[in-house]
This record gives sequence, structure tokens and C-alpha cells, in this order.
Amino acid sequence: MGKRKSIQSHLDDRLFEMRARRSAPDLWPMLERLYGHLAAYAAFANGLEAELRSAWAARPDDLKWLDLERDLNPDWFQRPSMAGYVFYADRFAGNLKGVRKRLDYLADLGITYIHVMPCLTPRPGDSDGGYSVMDYRQIDPRLGTMKEFEKLCAEARARGMSVCIDMVLNHTAKEHAWAEAARGGSAEHEAYYLTYPSPETPREYETSLPEVFPENAPGNFTWYPDWGRWVWTTFNEHQWDLNWANPRVFLEMTKVMLYLANRGADVLRFDAVAFMWKRMGTKCQSEPEVHMLLRALRAACRIAAPATIHLEEAIVGPEEMLPYLGRGEHDGREGNLAYHNSLMVQFWSALAARDTALMTNVLRSHFPPALTNATYANYIRCHDDIGWAVTDEDAAAVGLSGPAHRAFLSDFYEGVFPGTFSRGALFQVNAATGDKRISGAFASLAGLGRALEDGDETAVRNAVERILLGHALIAGWGGIPLIYMGDEVATLNDWSFTENPDIAHDSRWVHRPQMDWRRVARAKKGQGPEGMVYDGVRHILARRRETPELHAGVPIRVLDTPGRGLFSQLREAPTGPMLCLYNFTEDWTGLAGDWVIAQGVRDLHDALSDAPVALTGGDIALPPYARLWLR
Ligand code: GLC
Repeated sequence: MGKRKSIQSHLDDRLFEMRARRSAPDLWPMLERLYGHLAAYAAFANGLEAELRSAWAARPDDLKWLDLERDLNPDWFQRPSMAGYVFYADRFAGNLKGVRKRLDYLADLGITYIHVMPCLTPRPGDSDGGYSVMDYRQIDPRLGTMKEFEKLCAEARARGMSVCIDMVLNHTAKEHAWAEAARGGSAEHEAYYLTYPSPETPREYETSLPEVFPENAPGNFTWYPDWGRWVWTTFNEHQWDLNWANPRVFLEMTKVMLYLANRGADVLRFDAVAFMWKRMGTKCQSEPEVHMLLRALRAACRIAAPATIHLEEAIVGPEEMLPYLGRGEHDGREGNLAYHNSLMVQFWSALAARDTALMTNVLRSHFPPALTNATYANYIRCHDDIGWAVTDEDAAAVGLSGPAHRAFLSDFYEGVFPGTFSRGALFQVNAATGDKRISGAFASLAGLGRALEDGDETAVRNAVERILLGHALIAGWGGIPLIYMGDEVATLNDWSFTENPDIAHDSRWVHRPQMDWRRVARAKKGQGPEGMVYDGVRHILARRRETPELHAGVPIRVLDTPGRGLFSQLREAPTGPMLCLYNFTEDWTGLAGDWVIAQGVRDLHDALSDAPVALTGGDIALPPYARLWLR
């Protein structure tokens, strides 16, 4: 027994050393570039190394097994069996215990990944949906305890599901212990944040800074008269930006990261990463140092908690987003997942315009056929608003005016454009830039609310098909499709948030309703549009699991598809190509069979319906909002 134990602990040490060696080139050179000039660097580096060791020593055995398993299956998160579900624990199931009871529901839907929206202790009152965190080591007491979170992770793991948890990197709540210590006079903690005694420096930064919440939190700094300091607050007043130029912040946040990984989180969603580094004269987003920081955090995690991967949240244009998945010198060494914001925006854009030219051009020209150690988190709706991230250059390339197209999309989805099918809500109208972001539930934006009110059967059918088009698009893209809570049963806008003074100012709550389990019950019986959507989503995920061409490692090529409203993507699998084809219009459309065959697709078997596709007069006939995965 004694001998056996010593072999085990020996193995443990060796594993740590091997992983530390493997990831050293991603860790130390980054940190030297970021902090090497500081006198405190050596002490910091020693401290960090000690933290990595102690986190590894504290890592539970079952997670160490998971580490080994994922060493053997490094593509685990890229497989077609992955399908995600994103929800607020309270709105979905009351609390974490309730979530555990709902795992059957999720498994039956085909879900293998759950993102429990912010569940660490937030500040009281408005907490920006939980993104204003007071304590990174405690679960929000209204949702449960850390023990219950661990239990949820263990149970999910036993079912082959992974769990994603939010970790906000850019800021803490002003009620966080560090912020309170800073206000209480601790110079050490003040250096965790970016504070200024007078307005000159903030003013100088402001000349090049955009505003994230121009309506309810204009500007990027807040003046605290009782304290006599300006504080950098990119988001809301209560969200204080951390000073990542201070190595103490890196060390403390690394500790938090490994603490959460050791509780059993499979995926850490790093919130608001673009803003982590500030540079005068820039918009202070996606600065090169951000990528060094994220690569170093990735490396630290690969050393001490290698089973855990990183989802980086940067809702920016394509050229700025891709580096979060590792580009150039960081290729394959940064985020494992990042949101495919462009796919989402282009889905809505093509749907409104009944024209896929912009979508094709953007997705073809900006995105590489494959990524290294990484893939996309694909979504159509999430808890946030939709910002029309279409650049003027991309619009011009297909003969559109950027400002005019963005205004069209806002009006269309707000529901004021003549003939629109949609009904959403405006979010953060920016008078200075003309930006109008949009809130709204998937189903409402896709036209279901209006169609039901009008009692228009055809419109209902079209809305259902649009919703399924979206679900099929993200399931077929490659990466992890993320279904946002309620979207599997076509949940509509919920205006009740306007009665809650804490959140009435934030229209994003229109699409953050309570889960309606009666609606689910109806859907499961196949009743109403919710039944059609529910069946459709379940079917799409089931077919996805059976379709190896959808592995995220398979290179993809966006094609110039004949027909104004058609979009296609070729998945160049070693077993033969698969053509994912989508009709973005409510019209029947023909596509020449010869064109499809010329892409290398010979059998004309649709993997999505698992049925052969017939040619009519040499054409494939595509119904409104058709989706086919042809192999
Ligand atoms: C992310 C979240 C968003 C939040 C912001 C600030 O963008 O998704 O909901 O408001 O970060 O934390």
C-alpha cells in the first residue's frame, strides 16, 4: 500500500512537471513581456509558480482523471456530439438543485454542455445580470452553494455533459473586497483598479474611447466625490475595471481561475476580455497585451487544471474576434472557444434582406477554413443585445451602405420597418454614432409574435421555419451550437421586466424570461408552434450527432451560391465533402443540381432529414427556409 501510494504521488509530480514544461513557452515569455520590467517581477513569478503547484495539489482525483482523459481526447469539445444550452439557473429551474433535476430534460433534448449564466455572488440590486461580481469564490446564495455547484458538475460529468461558468475578467463589482479595501485607503488594492485623482487623464482617454452603455452609463469613468477619485468603469458605474498591468491582478485572477476549475467547471467563460488592457489614444479594446494575458492564463490552466478550457467573450468584428482563437504568434494557444458574433449578425441580416451576398462575403473573406485547438461558440440569440457589427468596408464590397444597412436592420428588428415580420426592442441608442442595438427573443425577432397576433397561419409557419433555419445553421457550422434558454420552444418576448425598477432600464431583460414549463409540456405533446420548434431542434441535434462531417476540425469553405437568398458552406471532410445549404427566403427556390454536383456532392443524400433529395427538371427544389446537409 505504502509503495503504491508513493508511486501515485510520484506520478502526480511527474504529470505536473511535464505539463509545466509543455506550457512554459506560452506562460513565461508572455509574462516577461507584460511584467518583466517591474522590480516585483521575480517575486511575482515565484508566487505564480507556487500557486500553480498548490492548485494542482488541491485538484480532486476525479478531475485529474478527467485531465488524462482529455489529454487523450483533446478534440472533445470539437465533436458533433457537443450541443450547448445557456440559461439563468433561477429563471430556468429556481436554483442549482433545480438545475440538477432538469438535466434529464436537457439530455433528452440532446444537450451535452450547459452554461449556467453568472452564478457567482453578485452585488445586491442591479448586477448587470450577474456580471458585477462581489465574490468569485461563492455561489450566489439565492442559487445555492459552491458544494451544490460541485455536485452539479459531478452529476453533469457522469452524464457526459460539461459545465460552463462565467468568470468576469475585466471588472469586479465595486462591492468586491478589493474595491472596498481600495476605498478604505489600501494603496495596494487601489492598484488593482484604474483610479485618478483628477479628470485630466480620464478626459484624455475619453477622446478615443467608445461607450458600451451610452444610455444608462455614459462615459468610461466615474467620479466618487467622497473618495476624491475617478475610477475606470467601462460598463456600469458599479463595475470597476481591473488593472491588468498590475501583476497582482494576474496572480489573484489565476487563483480564482484554478479555484473554479478545481470545483469541476469544464469551461470558463471569460467575460469582456477585449477591454483588459488600456492604451492611451486607442479605443482600449483588443490591444496586443490582451492576447498575451489570455495566452498566459490559458497556459497556467493547462499546467494545473488541463481539462478545463476557455471561452473568450469578445463581441467585436471578425478581424478583431479571430485573434481570441489564436492567430499569428498565438496560433492554437489562446481561447478554445469564442463567440461567432459574425455568424449571428449575418443570419439576422440575410433573413431581413432575403439576400445572402453580405453574409457570404463576410463569412468567406474573414474566416479561415480551420482553427488550431479552437472552435466557435455558435449562437443565434443569447442574453445580450444584437449590435449590427457590419463594417462599412464589408457593406461596400457588396454594394451596400454600411450606415444605411445597419439602420435598416435596427428598424427591421425593432419592428418599425414597413413589412417587417419582427418585433424587438431598442437597446442603447447612441445618438452620436447612430448605433441602435436590438433586444428581443429569437421567436419574436423571427416573426412568431406578430404572426400569432395576426392569426396568420402562413406567417406562423414561416416564423417556425426561420427559427429552425437558425438552429440548423449553428448546428451545421462546426463548433458548439448554443441554444439559449427557451429558444427550443419558441419562447416570445417578456415585457414584465419593465415592472422591476432594478432592471427596467435594460431592455435585454425582454429576452431573459422565466422558463415556461407549461409551454415545454405543450411542445412535448407536439402542440402549437412550440411543438414544431421543439421537435425540429431535437431532430437537428440528433442528426448532428450522427454527422461526422460536422466535427469542428473539418475545414469549411463558404461558397458563392447561385441565387440571391441561398447560402452554402462546404465541409471538406476526408470522407468526402458535405454541402450545408440554406434558403433565407420565404419563397420556393430552385438550385441547379449540376452546381451542387460540381462541388463534389454526388449522392444527393440529405444528412439532416436523412433522406435522398430528388432533382426536379435538373434542379433541387428548396422550400421556404429550407436547410439541407448534402453529402
Ligand atoms: C458581457 C456580458 C454582458 C455584460 C458585459 C459586462 O458582454 O455578456 O451581459 O453586460 O459583459 O460584464
